[in-house]
Amino acid sequence: MYAFRECDRLHDENCKRIREFVKQYVKDRKDGKNQSSFKEKIDFLSLFLSHEEEFNDLEGIVDELIEFFIAASATTSTAVQTVIYHLIKDPVCASNLREEYDKLKEGRENEELSKVMHDVTTIDNISPLTYLGAVVYESLRFMAPLPNVAE
Ligand code: HEM
Repeated sequence: MYAFRECDRLHDENCKRIREFVKQYVKDRKDGKNQSSFKEKIDFLSLFLSHEEEFNDLEGIVDELIEFFIAASATTSTAVQTVIYHLIKDPVCASNLREEYDKLKEGRENEELSKVMHDVTTIDNISPLTYLGAVVYESLRFMAPLPNVAE
């Protein structure tokens, strides 16, 4: 017989807590009590809710959000750590990357940096940055966040 340890109980309790939190968030979104912080007010949740009939019930949307959250967070943070590790080891690459990124900020040197960063760091601006793309791909090649399923 498997004996539950204290950490198993805690894990179980935390999973329930996360589920309740997400469920409440979904209900509030449905009732218009919160909204997406993106400019166009479109995020995963608003897309899921606009196709609500394809999910069995709200629990299905909660499942999907939790899956996305888990799938996205560990992979992305591992990828970012790997990028930073390699940039620290290779200052020439880091400087080339900074040069490419700095071009986005040209002409706005006298503005507050956090505001400029917020304005320029958009998907439309970032997508054409070929050096950044190469750095990310090369880092993922060195250290895949999910090596067992990588082809
Ligand atoms: C560097 C970042 C990421 C890497 C390396 C990565 C890698 C992967 C891999 C290899 C799989 C396939 C797993 C398998 O075959 O069993 C997968 C699945 C998945 N990923 Fe990612 N992922 C990343 C970021 C994200 C993000 C940001 C999201 C969501 C916003 C996400 C959502 C998902 C989901 C939902 C699945 C399952 C798809 C299915 O149902 O088959 N991932 N990911």
